[in-house]
Amino acid sequence: MTIHIGAQPGEIAETVLIPGDPLRAKWAAETFLQNAECVNETRGMLGFTGSWKGHKVTIQGSGMGMPSLSIYANELIRDYGAKTLIRIGSCGAMQESVGIRDVVIAMTASSLSTPSRGFFKELQFAPCADYGLLERAVAAARAKAVTTHVGGIYSADVFYDERPDLNEQMTRHGILAVEMEAAELYTVAARFGARALAVLTVSDHLLTHESLPSEDRERSFGEMVEIALEAAFD
Ligand code: HPA
Repeated sequence: MTIHIGAQPGEIAETVLIPGDPLRAKWAAETFLQNAECVNETRGMLGFTGSWKGHKVTIQGSGMGMPSLSIYANELIRDYGAKTLIRIGSCGAMQESVGIRDVVIAMTASSLSTPSRGFFKELQFAPCADYGLLERAVAAARAKAVTTHVGGIYSADVFYDERPDLNEQMTRHGILAVEMEAAELYTVAARFGARALAVLTVSDHLLTHESLPSEDRERSFGEMVEIALEAAFD
């Protein structure tokens, strides 16, 4: 047990899928894993361990935003020995060429700040994905004929943003989409020698103001889970 995860030693797999929403962790475990068992209920941040095609997998909620995700990523890697962490979540598109329901696979994650900012001081660390995971996720997504974009994303500190100029800078610099967790996930994974990736579905569009109809959310989320699982195992 750690401060935030109630699982016993050995109950967390080396491969962990990390949705922000704990109820999505439950849904994904029930839908895609065999013999899924709940291994964490602390603070309602549900985590489940089961198997997929014979591989042991944990699906653990992270909560929203980098401070919350940072706690789970640290404890999963340092205390439970997680080696592969794949975020599955939603994002807001920042380019005209990126559409609702498309998948965005994040090569890098820019930010104003992460919880690791204080450690780096003057260093501008560039959080980036594990290349092997990225390559396999792209192949899995393309095989499903899901429109897929691969590139930089922006991990924001606030959802209710008051800096349209900053979003415009991101768009001008080719950033595909905004979410709130990947930059810290990539940084914590790098610190401890783990592999990390973020596979995201576009749920809303900052330029066109469209959003994913609620009836489509489950299917899009399911595709992401499959892409993440296929990327995790050769
Ligand atoms: N902003 C930040 N995070 C998000 C968004 C957004 O528009 N959409 C999905 N996650």
